[in-house]
Amino acid sequence: MKTLTHISALRERLAEVRRKGLRIALVPTMGNLHAGHLSLVRAARRQADFVVASIFVNPLQFGPGEDLDSYPRTLVDDQNALTAEGCDLLFAPSTAELYPEGRTGLCNVQVPGVSEGLCGGNRPGHFDGVATVVSILFHLVRPDVACFGEKDFQQLAVIRKLNRDLHFGIEILGVPIVRAEDGLALSSRNGYLSAEERAIAPRLAQCLNALKDSLESGTAPAEALRVALAAISECGFKPDYLELRRAEDLGPVQDDTRDAVILVAAHLGRTRLLDNLKVALP
Ligand code: PAJ
Repeated sequence: MKTLTHISALRERLAEVRRKGLRIALVPTMGNLHAGHLSLVRAARRQADFVVASIFVNPLQFGPGEDLDSYPRTLVDDQNALTAEGCDLLFAPSTAELYPEGRTGLCNVQVPGVSEGLCGGNRPGHFDGVATVVSILFHLVRPDVACFGEKDFQQLAVIRKLNRDLHFGIEILGVPIVRAEDGLALSSRNGYLSAEERAIAPRLAQCLNALKDSLESGTAPAEALRVALAAISECGFKPDYLELRRAEDLGPVQDDTRDAVILVAAHLGRTRLLDNLKVALP
């Protein structure tokens, strides 16, 4: 697998691929790849003839005081994992390559509605940063299909709307969450957990499962959420939010909503954990 760091080289290589009439898939990441990322690469391979992964720790989507500087960077391991997975090309640009004029004054892509509330409420500007860099990657790679994890459920909704509104015409594929054996959703940020915290972390998914059972057996959402929030705090997490939303568009759940999703963000020590679970409301 070749790694390209320059836009001009990426364009040249993809022009060749396109001339051959191959179907191109894109898997955007920030690196420090784990089995969740690699399941996106596998899904991409099933969908396309030529798989491009990108690794770029995007400064635009980190707020002040967040972990931009300490975010794990493991390029050689990532290259080996992508090669083993049969990825065809890695695009790993520098910040100067992608944002040659710096951040100030850069075009900003805002996706209203779905990006508000939940993580958008706790991390102002985060989804602008995501939508901006994903727009750039979509323009550079012009993939037929792009794969994103359901782990970041709100991000996936933001990208689906971005793709619709700006008429990128890309097939957006959502890929199910990959979890550790004990239920913890895999995340590059799990590496921040101490051994003690790592032992507590799976309780977040357990609380979501208990909440799902409670909702599916007919408990009123407000009551079920109140009990679950108390349980999450009791385990030692500091929740940013715990909400039940419509799965389709993250709108508010109504009396006739059947397909819903529970979304949670909670801090455990210095680590912010994110998880979600689909629910079939009775
Ligand atoms: P990153 O956190 O590296 O995640 C890259 C992709 O992997 C995202 O689509 C994410 O949802 C998916 N992913 C992460 N953990 C997963 C898991 N346990 N199971 C399934 N998929 C998982 O998300 C980003 O990077 C960035 O915001 C990005 C889209 C690359 C824009 O900078």
